[in-house]
Amino acid sequence: MIYSEKVMDHFANPRNIGEIENADGVGEVGNAKCGDIMKMYLKIDGGVITDVKFKTFGCGAAIATSSIATEMIKGKPLDEALKLTNKAVIEALDGLPPAKIHCSVLAEQAIKSAIADYYTRQGVDPTPFVGKLEDHCDTCCEV
Ligand code: FES
Repeated sequence: MIYSEKVMDHFANPRNIGEIENADGVGEVGNAKCGDIMKMYLKIDGGVITDVKFKTFGCGAAIATSSIATEMIKGKPLDEALKLTNKAVIEALDGLPPAKIHCSVLAEQAIKSAIADYYTRQGVDPTPFVGKLEDHCDTCCEV
């Protein structure tokens, strides 16, 4: 399996790794088939993501995709962060091998799940903003 230099860099030196105490939103998603789990912590101020950290118990591609995804949403308003697709994550990493595409889906879903948690804590129904979450995407490991 060939990984791009960017994937290798984010795998070897993941950005924003760890957790945030008193986070405003925490999301956790897992893939039932590969067993990988991703946890995302957000600090939100005035509708803007001021800090983000993640923990991934999973494969190298899961670590690289969550690392770059945190960089892509840090400092962004929530509505922009919600528009981050797994496709954009893959492009930012200069591509992923087909068997690893689902790892980028996990990163997108982890962010959405953390934002949904933030809305829920505010007493707001997250569904109109976040849509339907596939927190256990057990089909995506079949590639
Ligand atoms: Fe399942 Fe990468 S997240 S193998």
